[in-house]
Amino acid sequence: MNTILVGLQWGDEGKGKVIDYLCSDRDVVVRFQGGNNAGHTVVLDGKKFVFHLIPSGILRKDKICVIGNGVVIDPKVLIDEIKYLRNNDVDISPKNLKISPLSHVIMPYHPTIDALKEKDRAHEIGTTKRGIGPCYMDKVSRCGIRMIDLVDPLEFSLKLKYNLEEKNVIFKKVYNYEGFDFDSIYNEYMEYAKVLKPYICDLVEYFYQQKDKSFLFEGAQGAYLDVDFGTYPFVTSSSVVASNALLGSGLSFVKIDNNIGVAKAYTTRVGEGPFPTELNDEFLDFFRNKGVEFGATTGRPRRCGWLDLVLLRRSVIINNITDLVITKLDVLGGLDNINVCTAYKCKGESLKDFPYSLEGIEPIYKEFKGWDDDISEIREFSQLPEEAKEYIDYIEKFLKVKVKFISVGEKREAILSKNN
Ligand code: GDP
Ligand code: IMO
Ligand code: MG
Repeated sequence: MNTILVGLQWGDEGKGKVIDYLCSDRDVVVRFQGGNNAGHTVVLDGKKFVFHLIPSGILRKDKICVIGNGVVIDPKVLIDEIKYLRNNDVDISPKNLKISPLSHVIMPYHPTIDALKEKDRAHEIGTTKRGIGPCYMDKVSRCGIRMIDLVDPLEFSLKLKYNLEEKNVIFKKVYNYEGFDFDSIYNEYMEYAKVLKPYICDLVEYFYQQKDKSFLFEGAQGAYLDVDFGTYPFVTSSSVVASNALLGSGLSFVKIDNNIGVAKAYTTRVGEGPFPTELNDEFLDFFRNKGVEFGATTGRPRRCGWLDLVLLRRSVIINNITDLVITKLDVLGGLDNINVCTAYKCKGESLKDFPYSLEGIEPIYKEFKGWDDDISEIREFSQLPEEAKEYIDYIEKFLKVKVKFISVGEKREAILSKNN
């Protein structure tokens, strides 16, 4: 069974938790895009792990975790993550972690330019300032440095020199910033190269020989942060949609069986940009406090709002979703009423087509009755309060996709199958 799993909203849907759960019967977990802008949380035996680059399957023994060519890698972050896991008794070695030689490397000038550009922009994007956008820019403009270059001292020094010659002029002229010193970067990155070299693996050949293994592709971010289909320009710099999974891993020979979409039972967003169902009243405090809605990467408070089915319907189409996972249903408990956006209007008129800009959009809500019970210990769909069942049934009918799992808490076991 081969599955692509992606986020359907603005990220932080709980993908990490679902990947950790689902991969119990898979062999290989693959990240195919993004970088350490991602923060995927897995809570195991009361301990919280936040993964930025390593796939969320690493806590399960005997899984092979793969960082594909579509990912941008900050080597220091990756090495720190490996060390952190080892210190927490997680086995990690070139046997269970493999990195594509073609992944691009985040260099020290990337986070700096990310932060400087943000200051200069007319409309701040609210990036994670991890250098993701600038690294992808260099990849596309063909001056990027790949993992295979990092582990070749001569190639690395030539590419670093070339980049610094150009970038230091831009830093000085455009941003009045002093720029970067070749020697210190070279020495620092040669140390990283030594640590990471054993993990580099020609994924295409390696996995082509093992086509019968079962693969789980772990998307980062969410559909509305996609560089094409998201709320541009308030997006990330990679293709986050399911169709990029094979391209971003090079594993095009893997036949995909299903595309799982993960959505929170409400909506959140970190950073700037339009958000039709955003709340700014006591409900915002409710979701932020009960759902602990603070970024797993930057710690920024997440913006919160009601579930938006208009957005989700579009994500389902774009990602060709075959199964849904609804997370954080437990967070809704205790509300008298729950709103769900089922249509949009703009300037008083209801919209027939999906708008290309969400600016100025007003949501039209359908109201559902809430429930009071704590559902976090429930493991059978039939045991859920009737109101919670109605909520899930409505989502299924509206989106015309079956809900496969419902997550009701951060712990690994706090999940139930809908058994359609
Ligand atoms: P990701 O980026 O999609 O992997 O999601 P994050 O890890 O950034 O954010 C999801 C947060 O919600 C994490 O703190 C998870 O531990 C937590 N979480 C996941 N599923 C559930 C759930 O069903 N209920 C509750 N209460 N928390 C959850
Ligand atoms: P996971 O995988 C939530 C957002 C940033 C910002 C925009 C661009 O944990 O769901 P970037 O640094 O990528 O250039 O920032 O994208 N963003 C995320 N928001 N979850 C994420 O990842 C995100 N990755 C990027 O907040 O608005
Ligand atoms: Mg996250």
